[in-house]
Amino acid sequence: MNRRVYFFDTTLRDGEQTPGVNLNQDEKVEIALRLEKLGIDIIEAGFAAASPGDAAAVRAVAEAVTKPMVVSLARANIADIDAVIEAFKGVDNTGIHVFIATSPIHREKKLFMTKEEVIAKAVECVSYAAKHFKHVEFSCEDATRTELEFLKEVAEEVIKAGATVLNFPDTVGYTTPEEYSRLFQYILENTKGVENVILSCHCHDDLGLAASNSIAAIKAGAQQVEGCVNGIGERAGNVALEEVAALLETRKDYYQKDTGIVLKEIAKTSKLISRLTGVSVPPNKAVVGNNAFAHSSGIHQDGVIKDKSTYEILRPESVGFVETKLVLGKLSGRNALKKRYEELGYSISAEQLAEVFTKYKELADRKKEIFDEDIIALLETKSARE
Ligand code: KIV
Ligand code: ZN
Repeated sequence: MNRRVYFFDTTLRDGEQTPGVNLNQDEKVEIALRLEKLGIDIIEAGFAAASPGDAAAVRAVAEAVTKPMVVSLARANIADIDAVIEAFKGVDNTGIHVFIATSPIHREKKLFMTKEEVIAKAVECVSYAAKHFKHVEFSCEDATRTELEFLKEVAEEVIKAGATVLNFPDTVGYTTPEEYSRLFQYILENTKGVENVILSCHCHDDLGLAASNSIAAIKAGAQQVEGCVNGIGERAGNVALEEVAALLETRKDYYQKDTGIVLKEIAKTSKLISRLTGVSVPPNKAVVGNNAFAHSSGIHQDGVIKDKSTYEILRPESVGFVETKLVLGKLSGRNALKKRYEELGYSISAEQLAEVFTKYKELADRKKEIFDEDIIALLETKSARE
């Protein structure tokens, strides 16, 4: 069994499709250098045919990074592929990602093409791309609403034409873990030549299943996962790569997969991307949200003070955050308050704690958030009276 899972980051392409996001060349390069530190294997830097600025940016990214391979997206047409060839001219470690839609709804309502025409276009474009790049990824857009038999046919033809990676995107976030897993099993069991290519998953989060679907695909044999940091992207976004990385690490006992991801770099990467895209991270977001390592209930705080593993399956330090946070509020217990005083440099007796704790609870009933200044004031007004 192959243990390695490759991480393909499309923050600079699908992520840039987040409404309102527009990254300039310098910003793309800054993010790409961070993604390199994060241990991303492949960076999709943009869509060269989209604009001269994007073509220049994908080149600048490819020139800036050393380790990751850099690819550009191209629709299945020769002009788009030429734009990628031109953008990467003379730059090593680059590749291309060509796609065409395969589902009946896209064939009939968008492309106005028959199955045979879709296959012919895919083969023409992959063969052309393969003359210029060693790394040719081919995506069947809307794969999860495509007939499995037809997906297999397309896959066999593009493998013969020179594709090295086959991606089956859940373009509209429609699939479920069981169904997506069956798609990969079917392709692996029925496609001639599949042993010579890498299978890739690419999930959108329209129904909140992007992470579950990606992990199901990996379990079923996908060796590459595509997504964006912080889960940004078209509509409800792409799978958040930090979630997949944290999951594969935390549950290595079950999945037994290795990645090149340096987990400690996650926090910095998430913050940079949030700042440059202007898309804030929801507080409850898994792995990178402000509350992801914050404990609020007194029972949980007490447990965490005694042993962090009571309520933490992932250490904040392991993904680059400074520490576990105990949020002081009306649910907090005595131990959490005492600990906070100690962190602030106050050592207080059991008697002092008992007294200040009563006042603290009264205050917490009135105030949503209790700040350090509040609890210092409680202690100091009390000492002043003494
Ligand atoms: O979601 C999708 O189908 C895509 C393709 C262009 C790969 O982003
Ligand atoms: Zn996508």
